[in-house]
Amino acid sequence: MEEKVSSKQNISKKSHYFCVAPMMAKTDRHARFFHRILTKRAMLYTEMIPIYGIIKGKNDKLLEHNQEEYPLALQLGGSDPEMLAEGSIMGEEKGYTEINLNIGCPSPKASNGRIGACLMKEPKLIGKCINLMKSSTKLTISIKTRIGIDDMDIGRPLDDFIETVSDNGCKTVIIHARKALLKGLNPKENRNIPPLNYSRVYDLKNKFPNLNIVINGGIKSIDECKYHLKYTDGVMLGRYAYDQPYILSNVDNELFELDNKPISRIDAVKEYKKYCINEVKKGTSTNLVTRHIMGLYHGCKGAKTWRKKLAKIKDVKQL
Ligand SMILES: Cc1cc2nc3c(=O)[nH]c(=O)nc-3n(C[C@H](O)[C@H](O)[C@H](O)COP(=O)(O)O)c2cc1C
Repeated sequence: MEEKVSSKQNISKKSHYFCVAPMMAKTDRHARFFHRILTKRAMLYTEMIPIYGIIKGKNDKLLEHNQEEYPLALQLGGSDPEMLAEGSIMGEEKGYTEINLNIGCPSPKASNGRIGACLMKEPKLIGKCINLMKSSTKLTISIKTRIGIDDMDIGRPLDDFIETVSDNGCKTVIIHARKALLKGLNPKENRNIPPLNYSRVYDLKNKFPNLNIVINGGIKSIDECKYHLKYTDGVMLGRYAYDQPYILSNVDNELFELDNKPISRIDAVKEYKKYCINEVKKGTSTNLVTRHIMGLYHGCKGAKTWRKKLAKIKDVKQL
């Protein structure tokens, strides 16, 4: 039976059992709407939204989303405690389920703005941010981070960092299981080159049994998810879920053990088509909605024809 989930879903056991990662220029509200057609239970994340854009740019349009996307976390980037607290209040007012702070982005632009992975070296500041965010909203405050940056020791200093965020009220910690090398690698390389160290994430779960620990990085199948779930509270998939989204159709039955029959690709497209028609009527360009379903037939006969057809579509009614 299909289970409906509201935005204010309690953060309970299994709340983060399966998550789709925040990905700039990919997991926009259209992609998330499509992902929600495939899975009712996965936790979805917005792309990182820099807090300056919302507060200084007075642009709360950046927070727009559809209610159908819930449960949905808003990911903020920044390190100004007051602004992040204000952003958290706005996120709650807009209906988000959770506020997530990005402490994993390795881009030089982010580091220059004191955003992302560079903040692993500033645990006191992060503690202050989380504390203020936590006291300004009833929502769960989570972080998404790495196992370390540059020459940071991934032993005790990582434990201390996690302890600081936990002491300040963050009980859900998503960890990309590789270091970010801020000096020397670009963001793409930082998603591929530093080796994955899953056992360090399992070790954090042992050391902090009361935290909700979600593992991320390089996960490519439901079986791999099941394996990681023996040692952690949740898995987060990024590139694989976006590039081969049909994996999401098996999440509710295989991981959440709901007896939903996975939706067929054809039915998923039919449902998404209705959304696309509506969006295009409101002024969204066709390719902005169709681009998210390019990978739907990945691995199937005719996948190339599907992609070619999609690339040529001028009117979403042709879907
Ligand atoms: C195009 C792209 C954009 C990304 N943008 C974000 C982002 O906005 N916030 C974030 O925390 N991580 C971002 N990431 C990192 C992913 O969330 C994830 O941590 C990373 O891709 C590793 O997981 P994966 O191997 O399952 O893809 C991005 C990754 C990609 C490929």
